[in-house]
Amino acid sequence: MIEFSQFNYAYPTSTAPVLRDIAVTIPEGQVCGLVGPSGAGKSTLAYAAAGLIPHALGGEFTGSVTTAGRVVADTPLAEVVTEVGLVLQNPFNQISGAKYTVREELAFGLENLGVARPEMVSRIDGMLERLQITHLADRSPYELSGGQQQLVALAAVLVMQPRVLVLDEPTSQLDPAGSRLVFTALDELRDSGITVLLVEHKLEQLAEYTDRLLVLVGGSVQLDGPPEEVLADPRLPEWGVGTTRFTDVARRAAELGRWPTERPLPVTLPAAVAGFTESLGDAG
Ligand SMILES: Nc1ncnc2c1ncn2[C@@H]1O[C@H](COP(=O)(O)OP(=O)(O)OP(=O)(O)O)[C@@H](O)[C@H]1O
Ligand SMILES: [Mg+2]
Repeated sequence: MIEFSQFNYAYPTSTAPVLRDIAVTIPEGQVCGLVGPSGAGKSTLAYAAAGLIPHALGGEFTGSVTTAGRVVADTPLAEVVTEVGLVLQNPFNQISGAKYTVREELAFGLENLGVARPEMVSRIDGMLERLQITHLADRSPYELSGGQQQLVALAAVLVMQPRVLVLDEPTSQLDPAGSRLVFTALDELRDSGITVLLVEHKLEQLAEYTDRLLVLVGGSVQLDGPPEEVLADPRLPEWGVGTTRFTDVARRAAELGRWPTERPLPVTLPAAVAGFTESLGDAG
């Protein structure tokens, strides 16, 4: 679980609050997406959930954040990270710098957790395979492409089996196939009851893979609800969040009277097909 309670935050150098009155509870087992324009505070919210705020970045806050049962500000970061995994927006910043190979990079966190050698090997091999990066195991993380680094950063976090996972644009440098790997891996994690906060711009994937969606604008949560409702909200474009192709096409069809009046605008392909099928049925 991640619980923000009337949380306000400013960086040490900020002249105005960056997060305002955040009051959001993400229950255990929920996959919650977070969207918003650039500078809205999405990464800042991710840092606060994972303990970089206040422990590593300082600043001033009021209210509280509780993650995986611990009040983050009152818990040493070394303890927070045993339960909460954070994948940073820029994977290059995630690489420990102390390790020579991808395999060692994945072993790093597990060594700190005190995981026994045989289990460590099997977890690492399993994770490399799941994200299809086994061929990179003996390479230096620094030699990899941005997309490959992104998969390695995710693997290094997932291999620790966190109870709470915070992902900051984990597919930004990946091609569609790489992105699919990430979303599929997330989907498979559902059974383990993990709680996920996912910052992501890919609206169609959010519609498909999340249970809930938050829209952050200017440091405040403007919308919070099921993705099919949030993504059909007409204010998204003016906030700089965009819309899915399906919503876009249906909205234009609606303007031409070609979308069933009572039907909400679609955010997925099946919902778009259902609406247009109904519309054609009515016409014919
Ligand atoms: N370390 C920092 N110190 C001071 N200000 C910061 C720091 N990091 C971010 N900010 C500021 O806080 C605000 C929110 O930034 P943040 O990176 O959280 O936004 P974001 O929604 O993640 O944007 P993007 O989509 O570009 O990643 C911005 O005004 C940014 O300039
Ligand atoms: Mg960001």
